[in-house]
Amino acid sequence: MTHSANQCDLAELLKNIPFPGDVDLSGKKVFVRTDFNVPLDENGSPVDDGRLRAVLPTINHLLDHGASVIIGSHLRNPLDRDGRPDPRFSFAPLARRLSRIWEVDVSFAPEVIGPATAEAAAKLAPGQVMLLENLRFHPGEITGDPAFAKELAALADVYVNDAFGVCHRAHASMTTIVRFAGQSCGGLALKNELMAMGRALYNPAQPMAAIIGGRNVDFKLPVVTKLMNRADFVILGGQMGDAFSRLALGGGIEHFSLAQESVEEIRAILSRCREYKAKLFFPVDAVALSGEGDTVTNVPAQNLTPELVSEDIGPATQLLYSQVFSLCRTIIWNGPMGAYETPAFSKGTALVTRALAECPGVTLAGGVDTSAAILKMSDRNQVSFLSTGGSAFLKALAGQPLVALEALLRK
Ligand code: 3PG
Repeated sequence: MTHSANQCDLAELLKNIPFPGDVDLSGKKVFVRTDFNVPLDENGSPVDDGRLRAVLPTINHLLDHGASVIIGSHLRNPLDRDGRPDPRFSFAPLARRLSRIWEVDVSFAPEVIGPATAEAAAKLAPGQVMLLENLRFHPGEITGDPAFAKELAALADVYVNDAFGVCHRAHASMTTIVRFAGQSCGGLALKNELMAMGRALYNPAQPMAAIIGGRNVDFKLPVVTKLMNRADFVILGGQMGDAFSRLALGGGIEHFSLAQESVEEIRAILSRCREYKAKLFFPVDAVALSGEGDTVTNVPAQNLTPELVSEDIGPATQLLYSQVFSLCRTIIWNGPMGAYETPAFSKGTALVTRALAECPGVTLAGGVDTSAAILKMSDRNQVSFLSTGGSAFLKALAGQPLVALEALLRK
């Protein structure tokens, strides 16, 4: 095997991970790990079915090939300090919703593991589907407990990982289970994610822009560093853009509580800017709140202070960015440009959603806030591929290894 374990090399992963087409499924029981960790409304119903629909090709493939299917997923971190599960995160209502969306009866196993679940799994006939209770109701899931993983694996003959969004977690149903499963492979949604990232990152139509915004600068900075060597333009907004502007132009960054390594990394990128493949853009002005916090004002970036915080990229930055976007033939996007949920601060993010819709080439977007922004301001069909991943998407973009993909590599 040629795969290097310290890099996320998408081409190598696609070559070396088996997928359902490589496995004999007839009469087999298949455990499918999905990522149904979805945003919920006040009634506890998913606000977006994207992750539920993404795995349908896998479910259909398995059923069409004579398998019976056991679904497992997590939802939030539902255990309290005493290890008691929060019933708001039970999957009991989800079985009915899946039955509707997938147009197949989905039964529900109220215990993640145990004799009743094992018996229900054993009784499943080809074509039948059963959903397990939230895997994180069992404490062994997040600790990667081998005994728990073994019992989960024993429910089925084949393990399928179709949970791209969780592939950075060394949890029992993501990595440990592979040691005990008869056969393991990736699902079709996982394959689509890897192929879409590969299309956007390797030999993209040029110019290629990477737009990075949002919060969590420390976590996302490796993405910026990586894409400075891959993209033609790296375009920043949100807190990421604000941090670069302030360190380049002054303005104070104390209120960001950035890790010292991040501050040094940003300074290093700024000082070596010309050595990278990409041209770097960060905001030259901002939309901010001033006075008692109730006056919306446009501020040159060099006039921002710890008290005067950017809520969106300003009009001069919007004009500059729109000119760059119009040149692009490939766009990768993660992170809103500002507090887009508030109309006064939504223009920068709306500009990006429009740029993706109008881009004549491949567009790829991912991340929880990014997906929410697309669903609010645009349409998922306006993007070539909307990843279901959050942190996993960012890690893959940064070229960092995803432990659950490593676990799936052909032995
Ligand atoms: C996600 O929504 O990003 C994944 O489901 C992972 O969730 P987690 O951060 O709770 O592990």
